Amino acid sequence: MIKQAIIPLAGLGTRLLPLTSVFAKELLPINGKPGIEYILDECIEAGIKNVIFIISKKKIMIKDYFFNDIFYKKIIKKKKDPRIIQEYKKILKYKKMIKFVYQNKPLGTGDAVLKSRKFIKDKFFLMLLPDDLIIKKNCSKSMIKIHKRFNSSVMASMNVNKKTVSRWGIYKLYKKIDKKNFLIKDVIEKPSVKDAPSNKAVIGRYILPKTIFSKLIKQKPGKGGEIHITDAIQSLIKENNKFIAHNFSGKYLDCGSMHGYIKSTLEIAKL
Ligand code: G1P
Repeated sequence: MIKQAIIPLAGLGTRLLPLTSVFAKELLPINGKPGIEYILDECIEAGIKNVIFIISKKKIMIKDYFFNDIFYKKIIKKKKDPRIIQEYKKILKYKKMIKFVYQNKPLGTGDAVLKSRKFIKDKFFLMLLPDDLIIKKNCSKSMIKIHKRFNSSVMASMNVNKKTVSRWGIYKLYKKIDKKNFLIKDVIEKPSVKDAPSNKAVIGRYILPKTIFSKLIKQKPGKGGEIHITDAIQSLIKENNKFIAHNFSGKYLDCGSMHGYIKSTLEIAKL
């Protein structure tokens, strides 16, 4: 069973400047609700029991958002507003599941994952990248089903425009399992159009094995000087660990860019 999830939240959010000069991008409201709450709701619905937030000192605002009991209690005592009581209850529900670890230097997603090592108990865990919202169908839930069926690691995937491959982790297919699921032969982080083995991109949902930590400890920085989770995954694949790419059915929204963030508000308002 997949019971634990990790969410890297230490990213600087430069694609959303100027908003992120003072604000954590994951708290920006999308149709009145912070982006991170959509991610948490996806986790809860998929059966996740605890979530590790990897934040930095600069993103302490995220911790304050969930751990502000004194503030809520004072307000509720004064004003018995049912809406506020309801919101506080929701925050309490989230708060119970969350633990924090720190990544103070933005050294990459692989480095962020490594910071959560002490807390991971089971053989496999889920990772969600908060910039990637997937609406209409719970992607984590579908991936957990695939994991159970094949007892393997799983990554969310979708076909992208060939011209944009250098924005993503791109994989080479080894074998088709069925219409939506593929065994992966290779995965490479942000290749050039010339080097890309396909136009199949990895999207920010991963079911990873605990053994990935032993790869991450030894891993040298890759593209752009960062430690990428993609490179650790590639090392595991080369040692015959099974990784399945799952073409999810939901709708993908890139909330990490200004255009995508604005679009996500419009899309979610339509639901
Ligand atoms: C990360 C991963 C990349 C993946 C992407 C999905 O990149 O490193 O492999 O395709 O998320 O959104 P980032 O968005 O951090 O540049």
